[in-house]
Amino acid sequence: MAQIVPSLLSADILELKELLEEFKDFGIEWLHIDIMDGHFVPNLSFGPQFVESIKGNSNFLLDVHLMVTPPEDFLDLFVKAGADLLTVHLESTPHIHKVISYIKSMGCRTGIAINPGTPVFLLEDIIKEVDLVLIMSVNPGFGGQEFIENTFKRLSDLRRLCKALNISPLIEVDGGINGENIEKLLELGVNMLVIGSAITRSKDRKSRLSELDSIIKRSRKLS
Ligand code: DX5
Ligand code: ZN
Repeated sequence: MAQIVPSLLSADILELKELLEEFKDFGIEWLHIDIMDGHFVPNLSFGPQFVESIKGNSNFLLDVHLMVTPPEDFLDLFVKAGADLLTVHLESTPHIHKVISYIKSMGCRTGIAINPGTPVFLLEDIIKEVDLVLIMSVNPGFGGQEFIENTFKRLSDLRRLCKALNISPLIEVDGGINGENIEKLLELGVNMLVIGSAITRSKDRKSRLSELDSIIKRSRKLS
């Protein structure tokens, strides 16, 4: 079943408490937390202390998206801080198998992310090891960017790969998701819709969440 996974990247930090209350009231299960280091992507965001604070003050499951290099230096920190799922970019390390195995050995769920220019077939030898595949639908680094249309083709490639290997990992898409593209993403088997600015920069967040959620419910009925 598909769900909205709000990204906190574009949230107003001073409104965070209120925002988390709204998400809780709405029945949101997972939150997406973007970690950026100014090397792998040209921006900085949150650190482990932020993750720890959210973990300690809420019951959300935390989907931590590492955009850092080398990821090896940060795995312990973010698992200890309370990540429930740690996603690492394929492009961020030559030792992706080792990294995924290490995260698993700490008892944390694992995800693998790929940038818009990385072919889906490169996942073939690692995809069986992970709980989730994250297909980036923008070049990572900033919230509020435009959705890259080629993502749809990449999701079809991913479906074919999963079918061939007889596996069904969670499929997450991140970047530029809004009311216009949700339906098609659901048709292509996406379970986790990471949505940042479409919610957090909206003047009326509650109605926006309801709008997005009703699109998901409608698609569910049609399928
Ligand atoms: C971009 C981040 C995204 C971002 C999505 O690098 O990985 O999670 O917050 O935000 P929107 O929905 O605004 O594209
Ligand atoms: Zn993200």
